[in-house]
Formats: sequence, structure tokens, C-alpha cells
Amino acid sequence: MHDGSGRIIVNQISKRFGSVAAVNGLSFSVEPGVVTGFLGPNGSGKTTTLRMVLGLVRPTAGQALINGVPFGRLGEPAKVVGAVLEAQGFHPSRTARNHLRVCAAAIGVPDQAVDHALGSVGLAEAAARKVGGFSLGMKQRLALAAALLGNPQILVLDEPANGLDPEGIAWLRTFLRGFAAQGRSVLISSHLLAEVEQTVDHVIVISRGYTAYQGSLDQLRAGQRARVLVRCPDPARLAEALSKADVLEIDTLPDGRLAVTGAPLQKVAETALEAGVPIYELTEERADLEQVFLRLTSGQFAGGQPPFAQQGPPPGYGPPPGPGYGPPSGYGPPPGQYPPQHPPQPGPYGPPPGSGQYPPAQGGPPPNWGGR
Ligand SMILES: Nc1ncnc2c1ncn2[C@@H]1O[C@H](COP(=O)(O)OP(=O)(O)OP(=O)(O)O)[C@@H](O)[C@H]1O
Ligand SMILES: [Mg+2]
Repeated sequence: MHDGSGRIIVNQISKRFGSVAAVNGLSFSVEPGVVTGFLGPNGSGKTTTLRMVLGLVRPTAGQALINGVPFGRLGEPAKVVGAVLEAQGFHPSRTARNHLRVCAAAIGVPDQAVDHALGSVGLAEAAARKVGGFSLGMKQRLALAAALLGNPQILVLDEPANGLDPEGIAWLRTFLRGFAAQGRSVLISSHLLAEVEQTVDHVIVISRGYTAYQGSLDQLRAGQRARVLVRCPDPARLAEALSKADVLEIDTLPDGRLAVTGAPLQKVAETALEAGVPIYELTEERADLEQVFLRLTSGQFAGGQPPFAQQGPPPGYGPPPGPGYGPPSGYGPPPGQYPPQHPPQPGPYGPPPGSGQYPPAQGGPPPNWGGR
């Protein structure tokens, strides 16, 4: 029997398709009550991972557990997990209502669930229309309605915002936030951070099948250090004055401006005044999340080293991330404390002491393994 926790745990999961290493030792957890974003560029392994979570693809190594058991042992899975993957197969001449009736019969829920699900996704008025005439966004909503039929505790959605207009994205955001606010779990993938930025609380960023970051979006945001950009006639003199004032992170940009990190704007201005260097321009700049995302996932098609792995412990387990596992600086190359790991080491993602719900790191059944 599953544990009813609403938690998904992916532990060191890998998948190879012949010579293609689609997923490489990925570990993360999805917790109830929050919306977790699963982010990565095209081809980074998102769909493959979600398919492994849903028991549609057999992992080459590692395991994925939903409520403490593999998907195949959930019993009535549609009542635990509702899923929408890409490429939905709709019969074009069937109405939305009939499509959902077929789905409802397949998972053993009564017809009343159909109209309820249609209403939940805003398709009540289109219930009698043929699906063949639906727009992409309407099809996305219909697929979501099918996932909701079993009144699941967990939603797993692969790129649900694809094809939605801004209003549709706003609607989806409200819907998913409401769903999570009921203490349920949501895992949604996207290749665009901006598309889900206002929807997700937690993010798992992957690149080339490796974890590049996992943690709260707020933590990622907070980790972005501002820098002060200075245009002046004598950058060398200002840099020297700043160094004497113990401001040591100073770069020169290609356009000749100084980029100063680790000192407030006022300190830079006062140091320039004391050094007698006139200032033509002084601005504070903060890297936006999209830049951070690009940096975390850059090199996807460049081959070579995988991204620096940042597998922090899942929430609630173990000590807070140490200096080596915080969010990266928004500027410059990854600092020295993020050595590329090939393959990423299990390191900080070990099972927490004394936790019965965490799966063993290597092989062996979880404590509550053994079916329903
Ligand atoms: N059935 C398959 N056979 C061979 N290779 C596959 C198969 N499925 C996925 N791959 C490969 O695995 C890698 C990851 O693909 P996946 O579809 O998981 O990426 P994704 O992150 O979902 O990408 P997208 O954003 O484009 O949906 C890609 O290189 C892809 O070509
Ligand atoms: Mg995909």
C-alpha cells in the first residue's frame, strides 16, 4: 500500500537510449503543498524523467517512487496521480464530454466526475463540441480535465503551458496554485523559466540529464548578488581606490565600465569622490532569473562537461545547504566551489538519518515496499 504522503522521490535515476544518455543520475523530491517546476532546455531529459516517474519508461538505473512505491504498485494510480504528457491522442469526432466519459470508465470513476472536471478546467460550455475543432489550448485543458477525473492527490504535467495564451497561462497558474494550496502536489515541466516563474515555488533545473539546481525559487532569486556598474574617465584609479577600501571583486566590462560586486552603490560613489574620480554613470544591476537559468543550462549542445551539480537535500532533510550548494552567483563563471562533477556524486543527497520514508540510496526496497 502506498503511504498517502503525496511525495514523489526520484533517486539516482538514469536512462540511456542506445548511445544517448537521456538522464544521468537525477535525484529530487516533490513535496505536497507546493508547485514544483521541472526546468531544462529542449532535450535535457524532462519528458523521459516524467515518463519514468509514471512507469512508462523503465529506468536504466535508480528508481522513482510515488507515495513511497513505484507507480506500478499504486493500485488505483489515477486516483493518486493525474498526468498530462505531450502528444495527447484525442479522437477528433468525439465530443469533449464523451472523450472524458471513456477516460472515466477506464479508471472506474462515475460519469458525474466528467462534468465536474470539465467545469474545473473552464470547458463546461464546450462539453458538447467535437475535440477535432479544439484549439491547442483547449486540448491542453481537456487533457488536464482527464488527469483530474480520479480526483488525484498529485498532478504531473509535461509542458502544460505550451499552446496557452497569456490568459490561459494565468488561469493555469491560479488553478495549480489552488490545487497545491489544498495540500496536494504539483510537478510541471517547462523549457521556459519565464513561463512558470510565477507559478512555481520550488524548481529543479536540469541540463543534459544532470541536476543543475534544486531548491526554492526565492533562494535562487536571493542568491543573485547585485553589482554596481560605473562609467568614469579613469577606471584604473577608481579600481585601485576600491581595492584599498577592501572592495576586491572588480571587473572591467568590454565597454570600459567597471563592474563592482560585493559593495553597495553608496560605498562605490563615496570611494570615487574621495579618490577624485568623476562619475558619469552609476547603476545597480541584478541578474534576472532568466539569465540565471540560461547560465545553469548553458552548454546543453556544446558537449564536454556537464553543468556543475547542485543537489541540495530535499526540503526538510538534513542541514541547510552549505556554501558549496547555494545558488550560483549571477555573474561570471561558476565559482571554484562548484566543480563540475562527472557523474554527479550522491554527496549531499544521501538519505537523512532516521527517516523511514526516504528510499535507500542504492537498490533494496523502500521500507514500505511490498504492494498494497
Ligand atoms: N524513445 C527514445 N529513443 C531515443 N532517444 C530518445 C527517446 N526519448 C528521448 N530520447 C532522447 O533523450 C534526450 C532527452 O529527451 P527528452 O524528450 O526527455 O527531453 P525534454 O527535456 O523533454 O525535451 P523537450 O523540451 O524538447 O520536450 C534527447 O536527446 C532525446 O533525443
Ligand atoms: Mg519534453
